Amino acid sequence: MLSVRLRKIIDCIPHADILADVGCDHGYIGTFALLENRVKETVFIDISRPSLDKAIQFATSMGVGERCRFLHSDGLGNCRADVAVIAGMGGMEIISVLKETEKLPDTLVLQPMKNVSDLRIYLQENYRLQYDKLFKDGKYYNLIVAAKGSDSLSADEIAFGRTNLDCPDESFVQFISEQLEKYRQIALDTDNQQVHDKVQQLRETLKTVKEKTQCYNQKC
Ligand SMILES: C[S@@+](CC[C@H](N)C(=O)[O-])C[C@H]1O[C@@H](n2cnc3c(N)ncnc32)[C@H](O)[C@@H]1O
Repeated sequence: MLSVRLRKIIDCIPHADILADVGCDHGYIGTFALLENRVKETVFIDISRPSLDKAIQFATSMGVGERCRFLHSDGLGNCRADVAVIAGMGGMEIISVLKETEKLPDTLVLQPMKNVSDLRIYLQENYRLQYDKLFKDGKYYNLIVAAKGSDSLSADEIAFGRTNLDCPDESFVQFISEQLEKYRQIALDTDNQQVHDKVQQLRETLKTVKEKTQCYNQKC
């Protein structure tokens, strides 16, 4: 039933008392976190009433209704949670949800659909990015796990994600190769320095991560 994307998100949820599944829609994430006993209670939150109704229906049908609360709300607001999952929303939307949150959760599991660098820049003020990795499920997705604290990300870490750079895998190498090809094509028709700088950054990143992955392969 679960897609690769949803499975990866759920696997990142640490054991905790209260989980907030923000933008829960179907309710799969919060429900499976309960079924797998990762958390004791899930607060399902959605700004859309029909989406929240889907979560109510699903969680109840899976027999975990007694461990659930359902909030028809814009973001977390004053809801207290130890862990919040915010998945399938844009990075700027995630930032605005967090900015409006009264008490920030200890751990965030985030799967932004776009504006990932903006999100990283915002997060480092209040969170340490423990895990920040790209994966493929038909298309590319980013998955971030952040713990309360602070961080100081380099320009490359803001652009590409720390875990991708420290432990690059085949998906990441493929992603950077595709990005490089895309920006090379754009650079053919423009003098825009930012585009040419991007090509250079991608070329250097590709070289570094290829060397790292070859190094792993040789060790194996
Ligand atoms: C694309 S769905 C993602 C569903 C699920 N989290 C997932 O990853 O599969 C996005 C959901 O977020 C909800 N949403 C968008 N902005 C929101 C906000 N500010 N507060 C709460 N829910 C929001 C939408 O109504 C929608 O149900």
